[in-house]
Amino acid sequence: MKNGIFLSLIIGLCFTSGCSNAQSMSSKKILIVYLSRTNNTKAIAEIIQRNVGGTLVSLELEKPYPEDYRQTVQQVVQENETNYLPPLKTKIDSIENYDVVFVGFPTWDMKMPPPMKSFLHQYNLSGKTVIPFNTNAGYGVGSGFETVKELCSKSTVLEGFSIKGGIERDGVLFVMEGEKEKEAEAEVKKWLQKINLLK
Ligand SMILES: Cc1cc2nc3c(=O)[nH]c(=O)nc-3n(C[C@H](O)[C@H](O)[C@H](O)COP(=O)(O)O)c2cc1C
Repeated sequence: MKNGIFLSLIIGLCFTSGCSNAQSMSSKKILIVYLSRTNNTKAIAEIIQRNVGGTLVSLELEKPYPEDYRQTVQQVVQENETNYLPPLKTKIDSIENYDVVFVGFPTWDMKMPPPMKSFLHQYNLSGKTVIPFNTNAGYGVGSGFETVKELCSKSTVLEGFSIKGGIERDGVLFVMEGEKEKEAEAEVKKWLQKINLLK
């Protein structure tokens, strides 16, 4: 009889510890930090928020990039060469209270944009779950997700999500509306399910 109770306890414990992220995630505090110039990454951040909740924060710089695309590309290339971290205007209160931090950014120069590097240097995400997402002009995320892993070496970094957004070089700015937004939402949900964040 005693053995029976002991066995039930062990089985119960196994089930509890094996419970899906989706169940345990419901009690977690979620932060969604994103950088977006033409609002495509912002749209993905909003889709994520609609599906898992959490606080949305847009990264803004003390000194914004030029409006002109080519000038911005030149500045970004230089910043990457010198490893410059542009100062953020955005301040995040009590980041220590969050358990899960989504970090979203467009591909710039086939890399993580400097402002997101500033954020990951400035805020301590060790011990947290970090989940990257990205939009790009069709050339992919480049080294962006690798940089997340490097800069968050003491966090649990989950599989990232990447999708084609605008092509500012060709004058294609915001695309996440109508059918494209629906497709994006379906893909985001598939990914959230895969990483066990959706029930
Ligand atoms: C400075 C700059 C550099 C970019 N470099 C790349 C690149 O190397 N590869 C790529 O696929 N897209 C590149 N893009 C395009 C953006 O990644 C794409 O348009 C993205 O969807 C923009 O996201 P946003 O609307 O959230 O700003 C670049 C855009 C900018 C402004």
